[in-house]
Amino acid sequence: MKNLIEFLDLGLQPLANNYQKKGKKITKEKKYKLKIQFNKKTKLVSIKDTFSSKIMFNNKYPYRSSMSSTMLSSFKKLSLEIKKNYKPKKILEIGSNDGSFLKNFDKNITIGIEPCSNIEKITKKKGFDTYSEYWSKKLAKKLIKKYSNVDLIYSANTITHIKNLDQVFKSILSILSKKGLLIIEDPSLLNCLKNNTYDQFYNEHIYVFSLIALKNIISKYNLEIFKIQNLNVHGGSTRYYIRRKSSKFKIEKSVKIQLNKEIKYGLNKIKTYRSFAKRVMINKKKLIKIFNNLKSKNKKIIGYGATAKSSTILNYCNIKENYISYFLDTTKDKQNKLIPGTKIPINKYQRNIPKDVNYVFLGAWNFKKEIFKKEKKFISNGGKFIIHTPIPKIL
Ligand code: TMP
Repeated sequence: MKNLIEFLDLGLQPLANNYQKKGKKITKEKKYKLKIQFNKKTKLVSIKDTFSSKIMFNNKYPYRSSMSSTMLSSFKKLSLEIKKNYKPKKILEIGSNDGSFLKNFDKNITIGIEPCSNIEKITKKKGFDTYSEYWSKKLAKKLIKKYSNVDLIYSANTITHIKNLDQVFKSILSILSKKGLLIIEDPSLLNCLKNNTYDQFYNEHIYVFSLIALKNIISKYNLEIFKIQNLNVHGGSTRYYIRRKSSKFKIEKSVKIQLNKEIKYGLNKIKTYRSFAKRVMINKKKLIKIFNNLKSKNKKIIGYGATAKSSTILNYCNIKENYISYFLDTTKDKQNKLIPGTKIPINKYQRNIPKDVNYVFLGAWNFKKEIFKKEKKFISNGGKFIIHTPIPKIL
């Protein structure tokens, strides 16, 4: 504990994916203090108060990776690369969500792990072998009995959601073949700091990884990163290709390049995080100013993309139903519910933003390109977007 230094306080927050039903009497929402800390020794950045997986990932989990064409094409591209370069005989995905990645492979060579049974069902119905369980040593043991070892493990936006990293990596090692490959991808800490995207922090994101920290953590399991890819998804993610130290994958230049970038930016030093925290506080004031200004002119503001991330921003900046009339979202399980910690309703997205809307707060800023393309008509009719990254502004 003595290695942990707190550097950012994002206030009292609700659970980011816990959507209350609209119209029903709102039950008292569980709130927690969202504080962010830096480990001086491992350089790992994490949130201080955490919840058990069972509270966060259950049969009501609303997130679907297939809701974004950006995600679908990113998974497709990776699957082509995997087939071409690694030709795995068995692929295990930890956190397979609705099967957006696995569907690119032959059903006979895949295994999906997805604890949220409402989503796991979607992939199972399509004939894939999936398990609605949390990733654990016990599960790995059960899988080895049935399938033997696997030669490729993939996990996108999941490892950072699991508190006990020691168990995560030990379980992975127990099922990964000797020459096997582990691919992990998660939001990038470097991008988060550069773009002031403090909304990467919420209860599910227990960690936001840097290469520096991940390298330190996995080293004790005799694992090593041999290749890096920077991705645009989720507001800037890093894909880490990991091998056993004893295996033959060649260490590529991309690792050194990324390491140098992170060191140059100062991800190994607490002062970098302290100045990030200052920028976050300044951005809070700027965003509130934009909303106050528009409200004083009686502008109609709605939100677009009820992301878990936007819950951090709205609650931290206290931007609630008095500013935003409603959010639009394509995800069925989020519709007719409320943005956590607020009374802002989430409405079903129907083609085109309604004509009476003047400004749209872009909750799904990470899909800006995709959304701007879709909403050309709104933009050409004079409609504007409000975005909070890298500094709050109107676009
Ligand atoms: P994410 O940032 O956690 O991936 O969540 C994106 C959310 O935005 C998800 O609820 C789906 C929603 N969304 C839309 O409503 N319309 C869109 O065009 C896109 C790309 C996402």
